[in-house]
Amino acid sequence: MKRLEEKVLNEGKALQNGVLKVDNFLNHQVDIDLMEEIAKDFATEFKEKGITKVITIESSGIAPALLTAKELKVPLIILKKQPSKVIYQDVHQTVVASFTKDTSYELTIAKNLLTEDDHVLIIDDFLAYGEAVSGAVRLVRLSHATIAGIGILIEKSFQNGREKLTEMGISVYSQVKIASLEDGKITLVEEE
Ligand code: G4P
Repeated sequence: MKRLEEKVLNEGKALQNGVLKVDNFLNHQVDIDLMEEIAKDFATEFKEKGITKVITIESSGIAPALLTAKELKVPLIILKKQPSKVIYQDVHQTVVASFTKDTSYELTIAKNLLTEDDHVLIIDDFLAYGEAVSGAVRLVRLSHATIAGIGILIEKSFQNGREKLTEMGISVYSQVKIASLEDGKITLVEEE
């Protein structure tokens, strides 16, 4: 997606550890106009898939996922990372390990939110090693719903997230694909 590519190239910062800093428009401050365009692009990509719910993982996926759900006129489900055991009792949970942040958490969804009739679109801001999205896929499958698509804003194609999801039989649509962040330089994947 051209506008997001330009934003990443102009305002993103390649950190030494293979991390892209996009605090200016996505992870800390949010460019709402850009998020609206991102949402329209996802809605166009997935409009024929019969999506009944959009799912994201708190917290940075929420802004683009919310607007995508609005475009598709379906509810948004936000998967919890630190569920209150008092409030959430009847839940599906799965452990997600984060390589980038060196932590792990129990991704959680209430059992009553999805049924076997649901066709789910998972939206997230980054695809790195694919741990978070794989966790979301496991929860959707535990709920007996169908994965209708995965939409990612920024895929780091030099890490193995896409491969992991492909092995699970799932295809991914990424708006921006990054080939390298070496030497402080952001290089995009050349699409043929
Ligand atoms: P994975 O899910 O693809 O395996 O990625 P990983 O566990 O390594 O990443 C964990 C967190 O770090 C995720 O955010 C992910 O969005 C974020 N992340 C991964 N690579 C980058 C990067 O290059 N730049 C930025 N800015 N973030 C990255 P999270 O823990 O879910 O936190 P939140 O930001 O959504 O609250």
